[in-house]
Amino acid sequence: MEPTKSIEELQNFNFKIKKIFDEAKDFLPISGTDYIELYVGNAKQSAHYYKTAFGFQTEAYAGMETGENKIASYVLKQGKIRLVLTTSLEKDSLINNHINTHGDGVKIIALHVEDATEAFNQTIKRGAKPYLKPTKISDNNGSIIKSGIYTYGETVHMFIERKNYKGIFLPGYEKWESHYNPESVGLKHIDHIVGNVDWDEMNIWCKFYQEVMGFAQIISFDDNDISTEFTALMSKVMSNGNGRIKFPINEPADGIKKSQIEEYLDFYNGPGVQHLALATDDIAKTVEEMKNRGVEFLYVPETYYDDLLERVGKIDEDLNTLKKHGILIDRDEEGYLLQIFTKPVLDRPTMFFEIIQRKGAQSFGKGNFKALFEAIEREQENRGTL
Ligand code: FE2
Repeated sequence: MEPTKSIEELQNFNFKIKKIFDEAKDFLPISGTDYIELYVGNAKQSAHYYKTAFGFQTEAYAGMETGENKIASYVLKQGKIRLVLTTSLEKDSLINNHINTHGDGVKIIALHVEDATEAFNQTIKRGAKPYLKPTKISDNNGSIIKSGIYTYGETVHMFIERKNYKGIFLPGYEKWESHYNPESVGLKHIDHIVGNVDWDEMNIWCKFYQEVMGFAQIISFDDNDISTEFTALMSKVMSNGNGRIKFPINEPADGIKKSQIEEYLDFYNGPGVQHLALATDDIAKTVEEMKNRGVEFLYVPETYYDDLLERVGKIDEDLNTLKKHGILIDRDEEGYLLQIFTKPVLDRPTMFFEIIQRKGAQSFGKGNFKALFEAIEREQENRGTL
């Protein structure tokens, strides 16, 4: 599907990437994702799902037993990935409003920084909308400073400074002891977090990441890259200076039928996080384990594999195993990657997960887009939303 590129084109590509990173102004040094917090209708049951189905480990808890009367919040961990599931215990609350509008979904993408006050000041100065002024919170284990700004929709970037804190998660949370601890499925870290934004807003949000957060655009796809017979979308990938944070931003594009991004925007009632891509070192094993625990993945037709090796060249993995699980493969200038997507993990067709294993490739599976979108359209057809 991908046209073969000349060596000259490849060198140009590598040069361009390096130049882009050099230009990324690092006034906002981020050492990684600190946690992802979802607002959910029932955090106890969500936590059970992510432990059982995704292999997350029991980590910390805040709720009535720890002196917290307004929320219940469960912290789960796998590799470096920290997932926080929070629900409201009150009748009227901002959390309930959020859930009422969006359904369960990602509210906070927390970023680990050295200085949360500086991160707030630098981004506000450049036009960010404040969510939380720098706030110090303490308990017996020390103190943290957190501050927050809005990004697309009602989604928030929280800056977390924890160099003076020794506790399990954040002040107010206690170690969560559970007798139910399913094994990890081998997920290691967050590879990228994708946001869906409104019609004609992709460039606005890319500009936000460039100007307000000092990110650089590393890749762009237009509707010629990402379209099927019926639907289309456009996407740009934004990265911070050290490349640890990658945020692809999608917007819908015109097609004969309703695109998956439009469907998301309809059901989420606005922009928000579309998928979290989680990395593994052994995708076949991880996916097999997740399937056994009830996770549903998008299905690609077996014909996808017919000309696969001609398209991606030699790979280390056994093709039949990949075919059995419906794992997709794509190659770029630097290597290849293996990826697969879950069906939405909620009743609304909004958020889903990607499981990804990189073998050199730093791109996002462009060669798979067509096969993938056709798979998503089959699901939309079933939901009557295509
Ligand atoms: Fe992705």
